[in-house]
Amino acid sequence: MLAVVPPPVTVRVPAKVNLHLGVGDARDDGYHELTTVFQALSLVDEVTVAASEEPGIEVSGEGENTVPRGEANLAWRAANELANYVGRTGDEPKVRVVIRKGIPVAGGMAGGSADAAATLVGLAALWDLDIARDELAEIAAKLGSDVPFALSGGTALGTGRGEELVPVLCRHTFHWVLAFATKGLSTPRVFGELDRLRDNGEPPRVGSHAPLLEALASGDPRQLAMLLGNDLQAAAVSLRPSLRRTLRAGVDAGALAGMVSGSGPTCAFLCEDEDAAVDVAAQLAGTGVCRTVRVAHGPVHGARIVGGEDST
Ligand code: C5P
Repeated sequence: MLAVVPPPVTVRVPAKVNLHLGVGDARDDGYHELTTVFQALSLVDEVTVAASEEPGIEVSGEGENTVPRGEANLAWRAANELANYVGRTGDEPKVRVVIRKGIPVAGGMAGGSADAAATLVGLAALWDLDIARDELAEIAAKLGSDVPFALSGGTALGTGRGEELVPVLCRHTFHWVLAFATKGLSTPRVFGELDRLRDNGEPPRVGSHAPLLEALASGDPRQLAMLLGNDLQAAAVSLRPSLRRTLRAGVDAGALAGMVSGSGPTCAFLCEDEDAAVDVAAQLAGTGVCRTVRVAHGPVHGARIVGGEDST
């Protein structure tokens, strides 16, 4: 009798920007305690998972040559973690994971985490698993601090390592311009640089996130622009001083505010509306301060199956 091979499953998953990123001191496990407000943006990766006798990972698109294949890829670790969790034992999961990247690699937008989240959602469907979203979120948290948010999307307050999430009310669609850099930055290096800067005198810390939550609820981009803040920005700029020029160029081009996204080096610019974002993007692209420019809006939903019941 022929075994029935399930059809491949494709999942679309968003990038994130941290509207507020408050970094506490280093913990004993090497992680830093965070208070962060994530927003999922319409800049996406697509991940297709398919049953295959030739297991492995394929990558195309943004930064394809710099994405690790095999065990070093968080999406592959996600496949192994889920297989173990549901007791699918064997050498390695008999799946092919095909990643089409739109999110910059090592760009501070959680692209690798997004691919891991998409792989979890895709394999849960491919293997027809009876698994709750909460269980997937637990597996996600083991894989990396940003993976649970890539599952849930929207706008959320993250605490702990960033993996403990509470949804945040956000009434408005906000419009962003993203400036990608030529070369990525390593997240551990940027956290390490912040520790070093703090040992040598304190770069000012972002304040409370409460006013930012009010701005999100009110939906006024001008109010939000004044409240964006990222403790990792000083560290990213210290490691990559040219980011100062990029940040200035976006604001000169008419953005309401600019910030380093997460650990960088991508810079995110909040704009008044969609037309303004298109305008800022066009101007920024002409300045030569970044490799490429994208427009995006947020919030958008988290990892979802393409063509699934609730994929809009
Ligand atoms: O959780 P994830 O593996 O994505 O984190 C990558 C690295 O970023 C960690 O190894 C750590 O160096 C740093 N990090 C941190 N504190 C956090 C999250 C990440 O120091 N809350």
